Amino acid sequence: MSEKFKAIVLNQSGKDFSREIKTLDKSFFKTGDVLVKIDYSGLNYKDALILKNGATLVKEYPHIPGIDFSGKVLESANNDLKPGDEVVLTGCRVGEIYPGGYSQLVKVKSELLVKKPKNISSKNAMILGTAGFTSLMCAFAVKAREEILLGEKVKEVLVTGATGGVGSIAVMVLSKLGYNVTAVTGKKEKSGFLKEFGAKNVIERKEFEGEPKLLAKGLWDGVVDTVGGNILANVITQTKPSGIVAACGNAGGIKLNTSVMPFIIRGVKLWGIDSVMISKKRREFIWSQVPELIDFKLLEKNIKMVNLEELLNIFPKMLKGETLGRILVDPNK
Ligand SMILES: NC(=O)c1ccc[n+]([C@@H]2O[C@H](COP(=O)([O-])OP(=O)(O)OC[C@H]3O[C@@H](n4cnc5c(N)ncnc54)[C@H](OP(=O)(O)O)[C@@H]3O)[C@@H](O)[C@H]2O)c1
Repeated sequence: MSEKFKAIVLNQSGKDFSREIKTLDKSFFKTGDVLVKIDYSGLNYKDALILKNGATLVKEYPHIPGIDFSGKVLESANNDLKPGDEVVLTGCRVGEIYPGGYSQLVKVKSELLVKKPKNISSKNAMILGTAGFTSLMCAFAVKAREEILLGEKVKEVLVTGATGGVGSIAVMVLSKLGYNVTAVTGKKEKSGFLKEFGAKNVIERKEFEGEPKLLAKGLWDGVVDTVGGNILANVITQTKPSGIVAACGNAGGIKLNTSVMPFIIRGVKLWGIDSVMISKKRREFIWSQVPELIDFKLLEKNIKMVNLEELLNIFPKMLKGETLGRILVDPNK
């Protein structure tokens, strides 16, 4: 590849915020010891927030967004990574305070990169991306109830924001783990999509939007909540004794209006999920579990692939909750 490359560049000057596709050269990168040729990136909810206005996460402009990518090492000053090595990166504040994946090239710190497992293609690694990685973290949090209760099987699980990237893959992974998955969605017309991913039942989101009771009938051994707000408050009240609620999202709000009752009467556990700042060891563990728990054929059938230009048109739809499943970004298309 020539020294020049194409990337989305965000800029802010006073109240003016801009996003443009620009041709840059490597002097753009001020930090990092490994240069990567990017194959794919993904569109995650956080990316959409950053593309909108930087979301107070971006500290310096001009900035290349994109919180995840897969690709090949081109140049490396680190002995553990050689040119040609295939790598993946999710989180680690790449695309926020470091240049990200909406680019044909990126330079990053070597310690943030994970070597791509050989049995996953570069494309599949980003079909999964941050969303899939987070879904797996959530699913393992729910499964932990089996260890806490000395082997008592998790049976009934609920996933909110189920047609989203995290939600849809959580439905898939939890059903692969053998659980009965109920999906909560604002898009009831997408029930067929959710059932194909493994949901046994589909419930309309509006049933979870009211003011939460102190305690409701306990229905769920585990919950993956990607939405926050009143939906999270309501599912906590419907969780069974010693049930685990893995909370990862805020698409529906950041406030949590709850009481101590589910926690002290039922021993409900609220398990916060952060996929951004987790250790390399845990990242490698999550990637190692992918082949067993992810049906890439099904995911591939349901992705939307966009180039950088198309990405700039589609991200506002994600902020309105109008996208479905995963959106894969090909910066070379
Ligand atoms: N903690 C972490 O490390 C981590 C990592 C990745 C993502 N996340 C968070 O997880 C959430 C999902 O991310 P994603 O990339 O999967 O986004 P996404 O594809 O946009 O999915 C979000 C889903 O939530 C539902 N939703 C959207 N707006 C809503 C609203 N106003 N009220 C209620 N439900 C709404 C929609 O599903 P339905 O139409 O099916 O209801 C939507 O598809 C985001 O909040 C994101 O920030 C956190």
